[in-house]
Amino acid sequence: MNILIVNGPNLNLLGRRDPAHYGTATMEEILEALRAEYPDDDIDYYQSNHEGDLIDRLHEAGYDPAAECDGIVLNAGGYTHTSVALADAVEAIGLPVIEVHLSRVAAREPERRCSLLGAVCRGTIAGLGPAVYTLAVEALHRLR
Ligand code: DQA
Repeated sequence: MNILIVNGPNLNLLGRRDPAHYGTATMEEILEALRAEYPDDDIDYYQSNHEGDLIDRLHEAGYDPAAECDGIVLNAGGYTHTSVALADAVEAIGLPVIEVHLSRVAAREPERRCSLLGAVCRGTIAGLGPAVYTLAVEALHRLR
């Protein structure tokens, strides 16, 4: 499968940022383990701290035939809780999108308990650390 992982704001700091919530693994380490576990998949990665760039990347995955994307794993970071525009983009592209969060957002501050993406994503996996990315890729396989 051709899978795109999209990470939103501040997730470029994984491994250095708030390890109590997000652990100590860097995204490079997470991706290396993921690609080793799914060697037959083409796993592309995109991260941006900018809402519009994330939306543009989702549009490209959904509408550019050259992208040949089969599914997306999306950790939108803080935009999860605020961005109607990102939710609109997920809804618009018609690809299966799995929402992931490293931390258990349901057990955190009230503003993190609401996801604007939950209703438009195919499923949500949260609170299991880096394994959420692996489980989301597995979910995309099973949904095929
Ligand atoms: C996060 C949870 C969000 O609330 C937070 O803003 C993040 C990371 C997570 O992976 O647990 O940046 O999406």
